[in-house]
Amino acid sequence: MAKLFERTRLGKLELANRLVRSATWMGLATGDGQVTADLIEVMEMLARGGAGLIVTGHAYVSPEGQASPRQLGAYADHLVEGLARMAGAVHGRGGKIVLQLAHAGVFARTNLTGMPALAVSRTGKFEPGKCRVIEAEDIERLVSDFVAAAKRAVEAGFDGIQLHAAHGYLLGQFISPLFNRRTDRYGGSAAGRTLLCRRILAAVRATVGPAFPVLIKMNSSDLSPGGLSPDQAVEAAAYLAKEGVCAIEISGGLPRGGGLSPTWTGIDSPDKEAYFSSEASLFRKNLDVPLILVGGIRSFEVAANIVEQGLTDLVAMSRPFICEPDLAARWQAGDRRPARCRSDNLCFRPGLAGKGVRCVTFRKAVRTGS
Ligand SMILES: Cc1cc2nc3c(=O)[nH]c(=O)nc-3n(C[C@H](O)[C@H](O)[C@H](O)COP(=O)(O)O)c2cc1C
Repeated sequence: MAKLFERTRLGKLELANRLVRSATWMGLATGDGQVTADLIEVMEMLARGGAGLIVTGHAYVSPEGQASPRQLGAYADHLVEGLARMAGAVHGRGGKIVLQLAHAGVFARTNLTGMPALAVSRTGKFEPGKCRVIEAEDIERLVSDFVAAAKRAVEAGFDGIQLHAAHGYLLGQFISPLFNRRTDRYGGSAAGRTLLCRRILAAVRATVGPAFPVLIKMNSSDLSPGGLSPDQAVEAAAYLAKEGVCAIEISGGLPRGGGLSPTWTGIDSPDKEAYFSSEASLFRKNLDVPLILVGGIRSFEVAANIVEQGLTDLVAMSRPFICEPDLAARWQAGDRRPARCRSDNLCFRPGLAGKGVRCVTFRKAVRTGS
């Protein structure tokens, strides 16, 4: 059997295989972040479809930290009931699910939140009137918001949490020298730039106990001039690994015109796949923590080789599972054709229009026979 389909563990998290559905905002929550029947249906399809681990879309931990319309929330107790239904539905289908916790920082949608966006520093993305710089008391509140959201994940029965420190959102903004020009102890060096993340990890640990699985997704590069470089990312990851994360998911890129995005287009041959592989090998060489690679993985052979050769321990995909929630089961059953996903990012469009993220290309291709 391919190693990809062997059972594995991340800390106490036991997984049926090494394929992960990477966090994907589906645009299917209610306007205030509650779970809906449509979102549960998607999660059930993914669990039935055989991914060893499902990471939810990013759930905002503070009301001012919302990034996208109809985004999942984890910022208040009234959301726990729906989250518990979601986790229960996945477990009912034999799946495992972790809740991704996030804050959009300077990229929050102020038109949705009605509040100023929180900026790490007064850098390029800072818009006076729309943003304000994070003060010492904001930091204390952010730590407690992440901890409260982690507690809600436990209460709702999730198998773990993943901190979203990738893609230029708030925790990634702290880690990145492009966004973080702070002169207090939260900036200046890798130790300073990771301090907020480390404080959150330690406080979460103190609250949820030593065994509860805590993962982190981070950039291996901001892919942007002045942004986090692969060497700086490894240095930051070493600090984070010391806080007892059970896996690091390796991604990269920034949102909305901040550089290259995490979702590259034109992945039409195996040599274009797994586009953070060289950064991942740097992580592997320098860190002793389970790793997950995401970004452009489309073929069974590419995915299988990554784990076979030990580049990372698991592989994750997002867009392929939007198009084919049963991709893992298909591969496992012996149909090893590549994912149908064309990596054109058109799946964002219905999501941004409030209709939920879905593959429009493949449906169109089926209708027209192209
Ligand atoms: C519609 C959509 C929503 C996404 N939402 C999230 C998210 O909530 N959290 C996150 O960490 N990444 C998110 N991503 C990024 C993916 O998890 C992944 O890192 C990226 O798409 C590259 O992987 P892929 O080539 O397999 O799609 C999203 C991507 C897409 C296409």
